[in-house]
Amino acid sequence: MVWRGLIRPVVFKTTDPEEAHRRSLDLLARFAARPGAGVLRRMFCFDDPRLAVELWGLRFANPVGVAAGFDKNATAVATWEHLGFGLVEVGTVTRHAQEGNPRPRLFRLAEDEAVINRLGFNNMGADRMAEQLGRHKVGIPVGINLGKSKLTPLEEASADYLYSFQKLYAYGDYFVVNVSSPNTPGLRELQRSKPLAEILASLQAANSLNKPLLVKIAPDLDWQEIDTVLEMAMRYRLAGVIATNTTIGREGLVSTYRHEAGGLSGAPLRERSTEVVAHIYRETAGRLPIIGVGGIFNAEDAWAKITSGASLVQVYTGWVYEGPWMVRRILEGLSRKLDNHGFDTIAQAVGCEL
Ligand SMILES: Cc1cc2nc3c(=O)[nH]c(=O)nc-3n(C[C@H](O)[C@H](O)[C@H](O)COP(=O)(O)O)c2cc1C
Repeated sequence: MVWRGLIRPVVFKTTDPEEAHRRSLDLLARFAARPGAGVLRRMFCFDDPRLAVELWGLRFANPVGVAAGFDKNATAVATWEHLGFGLVEVGTVTRHAQEGNPRPRLFRLAEDEAVINRLGFNNMGADRMAEQLGRHKVGIPVGINLGKSKLTPLEEASADYLYSFQKLYAYGDYFVVNVSSPNTPGLRELQRSKPLAEILASLQAANSLNKPLLVKIAPDLDWQEIDTVLEMAMRYRLAGVIATNTTIGREGLVSTYRHEAGGLSGAPLRERSTEVVAHIYRETAGRLPIIGVGGIFNAEDAWAKITSGASLVQVYTGWVYEGPWMVRRILEGLSRKLDNHGFDTIAQAVGCEL
């Protein structure tokens, strides 16, 4: 209420989306330690042991995470746990620091409850990300999302990913190969079997501690292309798949900015990403853990992803529209769902729809 009725209208009206984002991150970064952290916890956290998830030898206090791209440089990495999240994925980080595309490159499509971005992996690079992560102690699992630097040719992609992977290895609880952003020319070509195999083989060869390695896919792949990624995932013993990144589709939009180039996220992506989650769950008979992401705004949306096969979920656009109370509302809602269905743990709900 406070967010939708009071804060959001002012922020949306007066502040450029990218500027608003930068300011929010800077503000959040200040709440990493006491007493600010305690205040946030009282406002935004919700505990129910039944929502805890054990996966890949990690413990997640709840299944709701911060999606990649929100905290690209790990600026507020130590604050997310105080906002109620069960995991945070930082990045996308690339081997080389890069500016990204020219502005404007981030658009709010308020009537569609969506965002279009063509940021293009603006980030400070793997070296500085390592320094940043080295400075903080984080109480929830941290994923590190890796991308290819723009100046690196596609044929040299695997060495680029490998550099960041090795540089950041000590700091991540899990790692993600992002081959699905629409904003780096040619990147999505890397979802094909040969280039993907090369990247996965080289990272797994360097993965001495067997840390969970996942791949993040686009919602625009057809079923056959998704199955090719799944074969690769099995062959290279990936820990899971993140479904999905933003879409290049524009169906059904009404907002002024609907023709802007870039990746679309939020409500219009909801159904497609859930469909992709369900497909992966079915194809792998539930053997490959899935992180479901796309258009989650409330408990109902999160429940749909989980019951379609997602062990964990992530949010980005929903959090912008619904505000910082969203995670707590989702967790309370999931708790009620467990009561209603007579489940003892959230794990029992994973894939139960199928
Ligand atoms: C502004 C913006 C920047 C993003 N940047 C990244 C990124 O750097 N890496 C990535 O894997 N996904 C990125 N994403 C995609 C999100 O992680 C997520 O997959 C997608 O937005 C769908 O979730 P949502 O509908 O909850 O936003 C970005 C999304 C937005 C809106």
